[in-house]
Amino acid sequence: MRYHLAPLYCRPWTLNGISPRLIESHYENNYGAALNRLNAISEEIEQLDLGKTSDQSLARLKRDEIAALNSTLLHELYFASLGGDGRVLPDAVASAIAKDFGSVDRWRQEFVGIANGLAGGSGWVLLTYVPRDGRLINQIASDHDPSIAGGVPILALDMYEHAYHLEFGANASAYIAAFMRNIDWSAVKLRYEDAIKVAPPRPLEQKQFADVPSISVEEVREMLKSGTSVQIIDTRPKHYTTKAQDIMEGAVWRDPERLDEWIGTLSKTEPVVTFCVYGFHIGCETASTLRKAGFDARYMSGGHFAWKAIKGPVRLFE
Ligand SMILES: [Fe+2]
Repeated sequence: MRYHLAPLYCRPWTLNGISPRLIESHYENNYGAALNRLNAISEEIEQLDLGKTSDQSLARLKRDEIAALNSTLLHELYFASLGGDGRVLPDAVASAIAKDFGSVDRWRQEFVGIANGLAGGSGWVLLTYVPRDGRLINQIASDHDPSIAGGVPILALDMYEHAYHLEFGANASAYIAAFMRNIDWSAVKLRYEDAIKVAPPRPLEQKQFADVPSISVEEVREMLKSGTSVQIIDTRPKHYTTKAQDIMEGAVWRDPERLDEWIGTLSKTEPVVTFCVYGFHIGCETASTLRKAGFDARYMSGGHFAWKAIKGPVRLFE
């Protein structure tokens, strides 16, 4: 057996408006079934003769496996979300929620709204921390789908009918209200503290140009929008530009090999942004040279294609 059962986290007799009978049935019949299914699928996969199994069968089993695994994990999180009084959010969680949703009330409205939207259907409503952006988001996970890649769910509401029908019938909104009344915010806080320790995905490291400051394409777009004076120089290599069809709007192309010839045309009082095709080398090198010559120069991270990827305006390159 690969996966082991987790004991029930919340104390069912302490819940307000959700009976022990409902929790017991849910834990035994649905959580238990998910875990047993998960172990059975895992065992089946381990015992497959891969040489004789069709790729389609393997893919189907892997899909079933992820559904059972997510059902197991999210049920554990659901039971661990209950047991508090639902009202008092610890400061750390309240301020994180307020930062990412505008206010706790707005978060609550959105979370409950999503849950009501799932009533009569099925799915999970999760509050998830996304390390890449260091922020919280409410999300739906239907059919035990994978949740946000790299995300860490810290609060889960089960909106499958088996989670409430036994006691609330079709009255999903009464069930949702009962869930909200029983959220264990101190447990959510501990999970939030664990989640924010998860490092974001490793960023691109420009070791060779570590001391040259960069600017993101979004920042450049903001500069242009706000009318900030900036000298933007496209330094894509000459051999590349012969096949290039477009150039960033607002940029001028200069041959990086002939920097000596055009450096004198730049102003030292206005910032300079340089970039190349992908932002790896030539744009960085040019920015570095310009900085040494006393210019306030930065390279645009991601280069020409990052600019295009954010749908930054371009014009025909002639
Ligand atoms: Fe469930």
